[in-house]
Amino acid sequence: MNILLLGSGAREHAFAWKISRSKLLTKLFIAPGNAGTIQFGDNIDISLTDFDAIKKVCIKQNIEMVFVGPEDPLVNGIYDFFKNDKKLNKINLIGPSKDAAKLEGSKSYAKAFMQRHNIPTASYKEFDAINYEEGLHYIKEHTLPVVLKADGLTAGKGVLICQNHIEAMAEFELMIQQSKFGAAGKKVVVEEFLNGIELSVFVLTDGKNFVLLPEAKDYKRIGEGDTGLNTGGMGAVSPVPFAHKAFMQKIVEKIIHPTIEGLQKEDLEYKGFIFFGLIKVEDEPMVIEYNCRMGDPESEVVLLRLKNDLVQLFISCSSGELNKEKIDIDERCAATIVAVSGGYPGEYEKGKVIDFGYLENPESVKTIEADGGIMVFHAGTKKEGEEIITNGGRVLAVSALSDTIGEAIELSKNILGQIYFEGMYFRDDIGYEFAD
Ligand code: AMP
Ligand code: GLY
Repeated sequence: MNILLLGSGAREHAFAWKISRSKLLTKLFIAPGNAGTIQFGDNIDISLTDFDAIKKVCIKQNIEMVFVGPEDPLVNGIYDFFKNDKKLNKINLIGPSKDAAKLEGSKSYAKAFMQRHNIPTASYKEFDAINYEEGLHYIKEHTLPVVLKADGLTAGKGVLICQNHIEAMAEFELMIQQSKFGAAGKKVVVEEFLNGIELSVFVLTDGKNFVLLPEAKDYKRIGEGDTGLNTGGMGAVSPVPFAHKAFMQKIVEKIIHPTIEGLQKEDLEYKGFIFFGLIKVEDEPMVIEYNCRMGDPESEVVLLRLKNDLVQLFISCSSGELNKEKIDIDERCAATIVAVSGGYPGEYEKGKVIDFGYLENPESVKTIEADGGIMVFHAGTKKEGEEIITNGGRVLAVSALSDTIGEAIELSKNILGQIYFEGMYFRDDIGYEFAD
């Protein structure tokens, strides 16, 4: 079948690679894609918010399945757009309906959903311009640190962990009265700070059944030792050693089952991935956030360990038959380290030529099967003539599979040692808690 993959990050390059390995694929198209995705299909330069342009591509290229990488089109209702269009409604679109995508698109919606279904999460209250004064009072009395969250999508910038009341009240004022995050921050969730260690857990669900994918841990801060500003993600590892069998069982019982049952009870159509952003507090898992898509850079490690034919999983997801699928996981460990442009996540320059050293086929994903896989997934890259140049903050996600987390990290670093572009930076300590 012909498949259209939407997105342009390293997550999408990893999905393009994985989909390309399926016997069920005829031809893959990626919109807009990057310099890496070209290796697995045709890039089409359209905007992800232009649903009419996406429709034209689907009709012209005889697309039978669409996989949506990032949250924006999902939160904006691409699933419903396909379902309600006579020319598109036979196409299997992998992703949640617009209503279900609110689990990511609105923090306030997600918190209320968790409360309704007794899913463990931090206690909270929400405020807007109407109960603003009450909000100031609530924050003033709150234990520290206190967490402020803009309700809507803010590309990861809308969560503030405030260490004192003055700062918290000032930020609250900026969000509600000064539109610091635009419409996304007009409503604010104020919640209790949870102290623990985070992990990312993923399922693919057809709305009633689900399959559990390998868990991962990502590293969000720019600096070593988890310091400095938040980024889109500087690296990830899988498995997560502290997520042992009994702990994962708790996650399934206390979080995943009630979430899927909640979707059913509330008639929320969901045929796609759910990403549970979790935190382990003492020995209990709690939900920090839901995402209605896969993680980036988590996908780069999760897909390296997934042995199933992904397109077959997507077909079963669309037909509501995920109960027939059994997940097959590579027991080995995966790591990914992200090379970013100098200055990221602040200002940075684009257009730097990337030198791939001895990786002789630079626009390609490099697979060295003998030592496990080594994959150079592209994120912000672009082809210009014969060169590949940087085109974003996160540029490459260098990923490897090996017997231990430590070895997978070493392999990624060896490859990074071959790559150069002006201003290139990566964290040298990804997986530091787990590397042996
Ligand atoms: P989010 O955008 O919801 O993923 O939040 C970004 C990050 O803020 C999370 O990955 C956590 O590190 C942190 N965070 C969010 N909510 C809390 C909380 N209630 N307690 C502690 N840390 C939090
Ligand atoms: N790595 C976190 C995310 O994809 O949101």
